[in-house]
Amino acid sequence: MRISPFDAIEGSPYNTVQELNSTQKLVVRDVSLSFPAARGSRVEVLGNVNLAIREGEFCSIVGPSGCGKSTLLSVISGLVKPDSGICELDGKPITLGDPAVGYMFQSDTLLPWATALDNVRFPLIAAGRTDDGLCMSLLKKVGVGQFADAYPWQLSGGMRKRVQLARLLAQQPKVLLMDEPFGALDAQTRLLMQEELLRLWEATGLTVLFVTHDLSEAIGLSDRVMLFSARPGRIKEEYQVEIERPRAIETIVRDPAYNELFVRVWQSLKEEIVLE
Ligand SMILES: Nc1ncnc2c1ncn2[C@@H]1O[C@H](COP(=O)(O)OP(=O)(O)OP(=O)(O)O)[C@@H](O)[C@H]1O
Ligand SMILES: [Mg+2]
Repeated sequence: MRISPFDAIEGSPYNTVQELNSTQKLVVRDVSLSFPAARGSRVEVLGNVNLAIREGEFCSIVGPSGCGKSTLLSVISGLVKPDSGICELDGKPITLGDPAVGYMFQSDTLLPWATALDNVRFPLIAAGRTDDGLCMSLLKKVGVGQFADAYPWQLSGGMRKRVQLARLLAQQPKVLLMDEPFGALDAQTRLLMQEELLRLWEATGLTVLFVTHDLSEAIGLSDRVMLFSARPGRIKEEYQVEIERPRAIETIVRDPAYNELFVRVWQSLKEEIVLE
């Protein structure tokens, strides 16, 4: 089913922006951004992006490489200022450093000189607090409690992602922005991490915006998949994932609804992939 992110405004149940805000956790409104390019020109990266995510919803973004997915997450987090448009959490503009917005970057961002535990402590220390009990319990929750004293270089890729997840949870966010968090992991570790993220999401009710190149991952995890166009990125299509929960990642690929959706998303995504 194709839906517009602003059906809620255009359709009858919600007639005003205030009503939309009261039902949506995260709203991106008319965000555009360009970067300086060669010989004084500019490259338009985001072109009037609009999206709205309900509280507790798990949404994914898929799109061709270079279409602006990471840039959009940076804009939402407040790290990059858009040329125009606004990003709101609970109806208020998001400010840089808001602990309610947890951002897992595409690259590995653990502090190399700090142990796993110290890395998880970091957001609390930055907020002027300490809570070693919480930090240890988060490391245990993501399955690396025994490695609290290890340094990042002593951990496997999967373990480092787990520590990053624990660090993200330590700031007690309401929204998780996750940029290809499992992209660099081996296939089995990736499946395990997907399962664990689903269980964590089910237990916490967090709102998640998840960027991935992996259509199976997007469909398997999400309530809704948003397909970005080639640059300048904007939402080309949205797909509701009508597969019941709780889901088992290993059996979802046999679900006819999964297969049908995979084909539809891939056919539309293929049109956006431009080989330069
Ligand atoms: N700080 C910057 N200055 C100039 N150009 C930038 C900057 N950040 C991103 N870009 C450009 O913006 C475009 C989108 O980049 P972005 O990293 O958001 O893409 P992406 O969709 O995340 O790609 P991928 O799937 O490969 O991670 C690219 O052409 C990139 O070169
Ligand atoms: Mg990216």
